[in-house]
Amino acid sequence: MYDNNPTLEGVKTIDEARQGQVLFREQWDHTAVAGGKQFYIESYGCQMNFSDSEIVASILGEAGFTATRNLEDSDLILINTCSIREKAEETVRKRLRVFELMKKQRPGILVGVLGCMAERLKKQFLEEEKLVDLVVGPDAYRDLPNLIGSAEEGGRMVNVLLSREETYADISPVRLESNGITAFISIMRGCDNMCSFCVVPFTRGRERSRDPFSIVAEATALFENGYREVTLLGQNVDSYKWTNPETGERVSFANLLEMTALVHPDLRVRFSTSHPKDMTDEVLHVMARYDNICKYIHLPVQSGNSRILERMNRTYDRPWYEQRIAAIRRILPEAAVSSDIITGFCSETEEEHRDTLSMVEWADFSMSFMFFYSERPGTLAARKYADDVPEEVKKRRLNEVIRLQNAVSLRHNQRDIGRTFRVLIEGNSRKSDRDFCGRNTQNKMVVFPKKEGLKPGEYIWVKVREVSSATLLGEIV
Ligand code: 5AD
Ligand code: SF4
Repeated sequence: MYDNNPTLEGVKTIDEARQGQVLFREQWDHTAVAGGKQFYIESYGCQMNFSDSEIVASILGEAGFTATRNLEDSDLILINTCSIREKAEETVRKRLRVFELMKKQRPGILVGVLGCMAERLKKQFLEEEKLVDLVVGPDAYRDLPNLIGSAEEGGRMVNVLLSREETYADISPVRLESNGITAFISIMRGCDNMCSFCVVPFTRGRERSRDPFSIVAEATALFENGYREVTLLGQNVDSYKWTNPETGERVSFANLLEMTALVHPDLRVRFSTSHPKDMTDEVLHVMARYDNICKYIHLPVQSGNSRILERMNRTYDRPWYEQRIAAIRRILPEAAVSSDIITGFCSETEEEHRDTLSMVEWADFSMSFMFFYSERPGTLAARKYADDVPEEVKKRRLNEVIRLQNAVSLRHNQRDIGRTFRVLIEGNSRKSDRDFCGRNTQNKMVVFPKKEGLKPGEYIWVKVREVSSATLLGEIV
């Protein structure tokens, strides 16, 4: 889901392919007004950033801009950036060098940095990177048309104010590069958790939840437009909470999940990311009650060792995490669980690293996003702890985790051989247009030969006959 997941071949790197994706919507090409301004937007980082780019596109659309896929045609180049690891920032800086060349050729164009790096590096972009005209943080996108107006007059504009309220609830995102079947809905912004390694609370601000009615309305509109799956997005969905200002009624994540599941039985509901400290049995029971809530939980463990978890400020220990997995197994025996893992966090010993390996094995994760620790300036860990595990040790440990996760994923998938799953057809498989692909409830990608008359957006039953660690191969039954 995140930048440069250094995962070895075979493990799912679902969103890796999207890094740097240019978001564009086909229809706009035809509606482009002659002489109208065109913007180009490239996105990096997590799903939340991709969702934000759809909000930006909506705001710019209202202001009379149209999207273009061609850098050469654009009047406004935007890059929606990620700060989560150093590597992500390096990738963005390289892209900025390319935009610098563009700007030399066509001095009239504007270049804007959006997202987490804008927030983190603020004025540095304007002072050091002279090519940047706009620096706009994740809570300031409504101000974009204004800022663009002033930048066109020759100013260099910054708005990196973080908000306690902004949820963009009333903005209907323009679905860019969409398959027309699956969509993401942002349900909250920011994060209050302060995991010691993480820059997100600094770049995306305080946690706030969007009003549930606008979320359900968005899900309903998507369903009416042919979408069949929504993923509710937040840094920590379990701490979603909203109080109705008129009635005082409180809506929890479990309530929201149920409200979304009730939109239509044919609309699948997923969510990400869950936090082990907050995930309640109530959520698991709601999942069990509705067939259309997918039986898949992304529950990052980060480390399998309690001392490291404490240093990470995750506020749970290994026994707590194990007890959450046990609750999932009890209430949702069919559910798959995936994880995020960091190797080589400050002062991690070999023995503590082995606890992470044993956790991967014990928890039976269907897949994981795995990273070596990258110190981020300003975080609690950067201020308090020495980044003292040598890089080659971090990377070696990472490779050990990846190798083990590959084997665990393969084993997980092998158990599916001979089983039949309900799959939502998403489109052609990546390798062949004679095959369709889609996911089962456990979020596993299933590839199968097409059959006359079937099209994306339909549900079919597929029997699995062969697997790799990343994909199930089967036939329609
Ligand atoms: N170094 C390495 N990985 C990190 N993550 C977050 N911050 C860092 C960091 N400083 C990982 C965590 C998190 C995921 C989004 O990215 O595993 O869950
Ligand atoms: Fe970062 Fe922790 Fe918040 Fe996730 S929960 S965004 S890892 S601070």
